[in-house]
Amino acid sequence: MKETIAVYPGSFDPITNGHIDIIERSLKFIDRIVIAVTDNPHKKPLFELNKRISIIKNIFKKSTSVEVEIFNGLLVDYLKKKNIFLIIRGLREVSDFNYEFQIVLTNRKFLSRLETIFLMPREEYLFLSSSIIKEIASMNGDVKKFVPEIVAKELKNIYKNR
Ligand code: PNS
Repeated sequence: MKETIAVYPGSFDPITNGHIDIIERSLKFIDRIVIAVTDNPHKKPLFELNKRISIIKNIFKKSTSVEVEIFNGLLVDYLKKKNIFLIIRGLREVSDFNYEFQIVLTNRKFLSRLETIFLMPREEYLFLSSSIIKEIASMNGDVKKFVPEIVAKELKNIYKNR
């Protein structure tokens, strides 16, 4: 039987429990997910790309349904190369909508067969974002409830040296 594979693109700077919730939800109805990590040129990432990749690989080391890859350039070009035409994205609140709507419509102009499935995370992660996590961690706040242990440790390491 044909496998259903989707790409979950993002900057994951860093990955949060909200992202993980979306990944777990998607695996209820798809067979495999490729987490495609990119440097967003508009944001200055805190974690180097390779670090983000190694963190995510570590988190999912036991899962055979999760792959992690770097992608550069346009998402549509990466998807064509992979021959995958399904995207997973998380949707938290109204403010996400405009941005996501714009991404879907832009990508569709280049790749009309592309479809995006939006999933909503658990209520307690609705407000969560990588930016908020970085802000809390930079002010010595406890982020253990919101990110995997490895991310909390890496954040501590970064900010203790600043
Ligand atoms: O969750 P993020 O970090 O805001 O992810 C945004 C991402 C990476 C999905 C988006 O910026 C993207 O697809 N970037 C690749 C460049 C691209 O294809 N741009 C045109 C469509 S917006």
